[in-house]
Formats: sequence, structure tokens, C-alpha cells
Amino acid sequence: MSIAIIVHGGAWAIPDDQVEEHRAGCRAARDAGWQILANGGSAMDAVEAAVRILEDAPIFDAGVGSVLNRSGYVELDAAIMDGDNLYYGSVAGVRRIRNPITLARHVLNSPAGMLVAEGAERFAKERGMAFCDPEELIVEREFKIYEQIKSTYDTSKDHASTPPPGERDAQLSAGGYPHRPGDTVGCVAVDSNGWIVAGTSTGGTGYKMVGRVGDAPILGGGLYAMNELGGCSTTGWGESIMRVLLAKTAVDNLHDDIHPQDAATKAIEHLANRAKGIAGCILADRHGRVGWAFNTPRMAHAWRTADGQDGAGV
Ligand code: GLY
Repeated sequence: MSIAIIVHGGAWAIPDDQVEEHRAGCRAARDAGWQILANGGSAMDAVEAAVRILEDAPIFDAGVGSVLNRSGYVELDAAIMDGDNLYYGSVAGVRRIRNPITLARHVLNSPAGMLVAEGAERFAKERGMAFCDPEELIVEREFKIYEQIKSTYDTSKDHASTPPPGERDAQLSAGGYPHRPGDTVGCVAVDSNGWIVAGTSTGGTGYKMVGRVGDAPILGGGLYAMNELGGCSTTGWGESIMRVLLAKTAVDNLHDDIHPQDAATKAIEHLANRAKGIAGCILADRHGRVGWAFNTPRMAHAWRTADGQDGAGV
């Protein structure tokens, strides 16, 4: 079997002065995951290791450095899916866990599929995970953005009629508030046994409502994996991603051994046409081929495959 790994560090209008840090973070995550795969390790270990690196890098909206919600604190979501038995572990709204992807993996090995907020943290304690101070997740860059949005935010807009699908995404992408989109991170890996795993982790969207959960921890929305086809992790505006179950759509597009590049492009076109959504996705298939697509100005990503191809782009 051909091993492969692909990671992303978010799809949005990544500013010029953040491009190199995004690229470096994706490369580091890819390299850590690849090392595990190349040494015969599992796709599960590779995805967890890669996503932890992205969560630990303050440039990304996952783990440390995440966006703040309307009450000024970080709420994290993450999930991991096993493409062999289709089991998954998912957590949402956690506040005191630095690496929610590891908690999601613990949930995968539990009677539950998804745990939220207090229940997820209680379970983390049972599994012996260390808690952090919620303040440790906040970086100055995000605090300043939060303060700026808060000072100008017009809550009456919250009560306006729901904008047509995509209109909100378009406003957000153009810089309307909340102007800091989800800079979600994710990884898909294929190991030497043909085992495919996908993982996604995020702080969500900037100035999100307290308790708001996006696509990242939702199976089929933020991630999907099945060994017969491949795996996918998505990034972008969660509300529209969920309308078309973007990750499942992209994986289904791999039927008849369609190349992941074509499958990813088709999935993003479907999102744009059907839900007027704005997002990106990464894919790896059962042959160890990778592909990605996005309709945002930029998407941070990096990949490596067994035939010697690799790269990193923003
Ligand atoms: N894609 C991450 C989110 O919308 O929360």
C-alpha cells in the first residue's frame, strides 16, 4: 500500500504577512505525520501527531491562538474518524484542553461518538488528560481582533431575517464581521496497511455565538474517511459546509477511482453552486493519491506521497 499525508491550516484570505508562518506550520505537521507513516506507524497516530502540531502553533485557529467567541473566550471543536470501522470521536465546546484532537481520539475509544462542553471535559479528566487555564489559549493577536469586533458589532443584525445562503459567507469573506473566519486545521493520512484516517480541529469562526458549533466536529461535514474510497478534511464557513456535507460529498466523489484532485474540485463546485459556500478541502484516496481545492483567496496546505511528490502552498 502507498502511504500518503495531506494537511491544511485553514482556507480564508490569509494576510501576506502570515503566509510564511502558515506554510511552515503545515510543513512541520506534514513532516511529523510522514515520519510516523514512513516508519510503519498507523494513520491514526500520524493524523493525531500532525493535528497536535497545528493546534500548538499559535498562527492557526485551533488550540492555542484560536479565535474568541462573543464572551471573549475560546471554545474548541475537533474530531477524528477511522476509515476502517467508521468509528469516530468528536468533541465540541471544550475550553480547558490544549489538544482537542487527542480528546477526540479518546472519545473514539469510548461508548460515545460525540461529547460536548462539560461532559467532554469530565471525560478528559477520566482519561487523565491535563487541563489548561482557558487564558492560555488566547493570544494577543486574537484578543485585539475580538476587541475591535466587539467595539463595532451591531447586535441588531443578529435578529435580522436570515440572509440567503451564501450571502453571509460572501460578506464575511469580503471582510464583514465577524471578519476572522475559521482557520481550521486538518489532516488525512493513508498508512502502509491501507488504513485511512481523517482529523479536523478548530476554534470556529471569530466572534461566534457562545455555544456555536461549526462543521469541524460533525461527521460528513468537517471530515470523513472510509478505506474503500479515501478521506477528507474541510475548512471554511461551517454553516454552509454542513448544508452539503462537504467531506462526505468529496469522499463519495472518489468513486470509480476518480483522482482526488478532480473529486475535491467537484466537491467545492457543488458547495459553491448549491449552498453558495466558501471553503476548502483536502483529500487522500486508497491509492495514496492526494488532492485539494478551495474557493477562498488562500488555503494553507502541505502534502507528501510515496511516489516522491511533496509540497506546501498557501
Ligand atoms: N470550519 C470551522 C467552523 O466553521 O467552525
